[in-house]
Amino acid sequence: MTIPTESDVINALSRVMDPELGRNLVELQMIRNIKITSSGAVSFMIALTIPGCPLREKISADAKAAVLALPGVKNVTVNLGAMTEEERKAVLGKNQSFSPKLNEFNQVNQVIAVMSGKGGVGKSSVTALLAASLACKGKRVGVLDADITGPSIPRMFGLAPGGVRGSQDGMLPGITARGIKVISVNLLLPEEDMAVIWRGPMISGTIQQFWNQTLWGQLDTLLVDLPPGTSDASLTVLQSLPVNGVLLVTTPQGLASMVVRKAVSMLQQMKVPILGVVENMSYYICPDTGKKHAIFGESHASEIAEAAGVKVWARLPINPQITALCDAGKVEEADLPEIEEIVKLLG
Ligand SMILES: Nc1ncnc2c1ncn2[C@@H]1O[C@H](COP(=O)(O)OP(=O)(O)O)[C@@H](O)[C@H]1O
Ligand SMILES: [Mg+2]
Repeated sequence: MTIPTESDVINALSRVMDPELGRNLVELQMIRNIKITSSGAVSFMIALTIPGCPLREKISADAKAAVLALPGVKNVTVNLGAMTEEERKAVLGKNQSFSPKLNEFNQVNQVIAVMSGKGGVGKSSVTALLAASLACKGKRVGVLDADITGPSIPRMFGLAPGGVRGSQDGMLPGITARGIKVISVNLLLPEEDMAVIWRGPMISGTIQQFWNQTLWGQLDTLLVDLPPGTSDASLTVLQSLPVNGVLLVTTPQGLASMVVRKAVSMLQQMKVPILGVVENMSYYICPDTGKKHAIFGESHASEIAEAAGVKVWARLPINPQITALCDAGKVEEADLPEIEEIVKLLG
């Protein structure tokens, strides 16, 4: 019988990420005291960066599963411990601000990311409309605008640039008319049209800070508006935020459908649950004749949903009212039956 070596175990654990820090457990020097018996029982200790780490169960379960998958391993015992202050500083770097206290203030019940293949399909509009509808039902809602280079959430809610204030404990998000908490690069910039010209790591770092350094308080749902496609930023959100599920937004065009398939494939590879497909700009009802027109061609939503193993949750018409309300910063005034359907399915 083959028994794994210590380096096999380390190797397996180097594929397990600390979801919050976005780095693997080995790189973070969290693994200690590996013991392997001749009968295939493996035990080790995980030194958490903070003892009460809210993600301890997940980290421990992921580590256990990774080692259990090695050939010859019969059972795995994970002991949880904590790093000393010196160890933590050495690993995380002295300049890295790390505020465990903050995570105690924040309690986010579910994180839903909204993703699309290509831009301009209405992903941000759907995110904003969903947030508004949830808030209308009395839910505590936050929106994290992860589109760092093309942020559009603040404008849709009529939030002015420069609205974010800092406190000793973190950033205070912008708050909309209906009490939705919003964080976005555009709330940090003095002017809305200033360009953010950053490379991937800066973008990823900002998204992580938006997650763990915003004073979200208690939220029922945090919606994350992703940038289009399968870029670095999307990867950061999916890897370092505890995303419960992803809503896919697409339009009927063949091109939009093709690219959204890439998003499906990314999510499947990353094992992030896909909740459903929303087809936006699905059709247009002519106000003069009442006739339905397929402006962007025939729908591919069912095929995409089938490939993703989910259902089409809604088909939204092209509705000039949506454009107008989004442009005017009054997205919270919209009242669309299709959005209500999605909210019902979100539960
Ligand atoms: N169903 C719709 N009907 C009319 N206009 C829409 C609809 N969905 C989105 N829009 C408009 O299309 C534009 C692009 O939408 P946006 O949500 O910013 O796309 P994305 O985030 O996918 O890039 C916005 O100006 C928005 O107001
Ligand atoms: Mg957008």
